[in-house]
Amino acid sequence: MKKYNVAVIGVGMVGIEMLRVLKQRNFPLGELQVFARSARDIDVDGQTYSVKTITPESFEDTDIALFAGTEGEKGASVLYAKQAIKSGAIVIDNGADFRLRSDVPLIVPEVNPQAVKSHKGLIANPNCTTIQLVVALNEIYKRFGLEQIILTSFQAVSGAGKKAVEQLWEETEEAIRSKHCPPKPAGRRQKSAFNAIPQIGDFGEYNYTTEEWKTVHETHKLFEDSSIKISSTCVRVPVFVSHSEAIYFRTKKGVCLKEIEEVLGESEGVVFFKDPQDFPLALDAQGRDEVFVGRLREDHFNKNCFWLWCVSDNLRKGAALNAVQIAELVCQN
Ligand SMILES: NC(=O)c1ccc[n+]([C@@H]2O[C@H](COP(=O)([O-])OP(=O)(O)OC[C@H]3O[C@@H](n4cnc5c(N)ncnc54)[C@H](OP(=O)(O)O)[C@@H]3O)[C@@H](O)[C@H]2O)c1
Repeated sequence: MKKYNVAVIGVGMVGIEMLRVLKQRNFPLGELQVFARSARDIDVDGQTYSVKTITPESFEDTDIALFAGTEGEKGASVLYAKQAIKSGAIVIDNGADFRLRSDVPLIVPEVNPQAVKSHKGLIANPNCTTIQLVVALNEIYKRFGLEQIILTSFQAVSGAGKKAVEQLWEETEEAIRSKHCPPKPAGRRQKSAFNAIPQIGDFGEYNYTTEEWKTVHETHKLFEDSSIKISSTCVRVPVFVSHSEAIYFRTKKGVCLKEIEEVLGESEGVVFFKDPQDFPLALDAQGRDEVFVGRLREDHFNKNCFWLWCVSDNLRKGAALNAVQIAELVCQN
């Protein structure tokens, strides 16, 4: 079997999960190199990885580069992805910098695996909130079409990286010690402990946040259908891992509850809780690969409209696992 030299860039919440997933899935690894801004040894589940400082020359023997080194002008992908591609590597990027570029395929393997054939060296991994949404709705979309999606997300702090996780621990410990949750001091970042914050990312067009717009544009790109009317409210909640979503959707074709139940039961990557009073929770999804859905109900007042509850591990299917699944597609093609 052919082996691939892999580089993992970034050893934060996603990068560490990537190291786990590569090992757990028995990825056909040749040499594995790990890069970040600063060199050190790290321990992941009892295995030591030597992290090297990234440089433009880091990718000379790399076949596949899995980027999880933050976004924006100081992030690893903007600084080094071009160089990695030039050196012959195929880059799979977790951040939002390239997701909507027309020459960059955006892939969720359960939804659009064929898109891998069109890459020009760079493939983007969608946002965590979008990934679980499209996995949950994929088969419903393919069989009945989707007219509209209204999403409310309840997102874990690990989605904002390791600093946000540390902040939640500190705030929680402080609140428990003092038996008091002080309100946000003027001018400072909102506290996430014992709170729910309806802002993820910056405010953009029509006062929707960047996170909310990601769910719209990325879903349109993944389904190759910008006619779906999508509107989201994304909320940060004091959960460490796994995003929860309340998904309301209207199908194009006429459909009954039983048909939606059947489709969800057969959907790839989905575990469907058929009993509406037995539902999956964020803690159930932590460390798991699947997208869990439950509490399916029809809208009593509107035809072809339904509610779903959906949870998934944002660090695994929402990021690291999906990226490694894309790498597996690359190896097969
Ligand atoms: N967390 C999620 O649920 C999630 C889901 C989907 C996508 N993503 C995306 O995945 C990426 C990583 O997220 P994360 O949560 O793992 O972040 P994180 O916990 O903050 O970790 C960031 C890592 O990136 C490294 N890094 C930052 N800038 C770098 C640069 N210029 N060159 C090399 N390494 C650099 C850091 O290096 P040092 O350790 O040396 O500082 C750190 O190891 C982000 O783009 C994020 O938007 C995250």
